Amino acid sequence: YPQAVIFDLDGVITDSAEHHFLAWQQLGQELSIPFDRQFNETLKGVNRMDSLERILSLGQANDRYSETEKTALAEKKNRYYVESIQHLTPQDVLPGIIDLLKDLRQNKIKIAMASASKNAQFVSERLEVDHYFDHIVDAATVEKSKPHPEVFLKAATAVGVAPTDCVGIEDAAAGVEAIKSAGMRAIAIGDADILNAADLVLTDTSKLSLTTLSGVFSK
Ligand code: BG6
Ligand code: MG
Repeated sequence: YPQAVIFDLDGVITDSAEHHFLAWQQLGQELSIPFDRQFNETLKGVNRMDSLERILSLGQANDRYSETEKTALAEKKNRYYVESIQHLTPQDVLPGIIDLLKDLRQNKIKIAMASASKNAQFVSERLEVDHYFDHIVDAATVEKSKPHPEVFLKAATAVGVAPTDCVGIEDAAAGVEAIKSAGMRAIAIGDADILNAADLVLTDTSKLSLTTLSGVFSK
């Protein structure tokens, strides 16, 4: 078994990746920079300001706004997002996640969260999963966005486990890259074509179990 399992939040524990997409899409429309789900794949796991820069660069509009204006645009997207997550409940936790968290606890395997979201604590509380976690990295303390491994390494350090004894779970290509750069095993949830850098790709969270985790770990 791994000694620690490090979870991404958005798109792994709950479907909030969809809420992020809709909020960015709304801002994009207002800026006359429309984008589709395929482009959205490149935003998954990426922090707020870096996501904005990617959208602006899609519209060749990076130089159109001052830093102050960019901050205001990012805040606007966040207001759309925060509004859309107000009604999250424990029922919005994706299939198989609670059983896995309970199994991990029972087996005394450390549990951490490595989300790029500054709303991670709020979302975890709404979902009532926060109490399962030995550590939730505060995104405000992370300097480098995924695919940089910083957030995963911070999570491992916080629970006192070497990266080689950790498994990370992600739904984003940038997240899988971050896990692998951190020297950890990666399990991805989603499309195998997009997430092929992972050690194992599962179509959805219901396939997650202690067995699938230990399988990837004993490789
Ligand atoms: C990641 C999401 O978890 O958090 C991204 O995958 C999002 O879509 C990023 O942009 C930052 O979130 P927030 O809540 O701090 O804007
Ligand atoms: Mg994610």
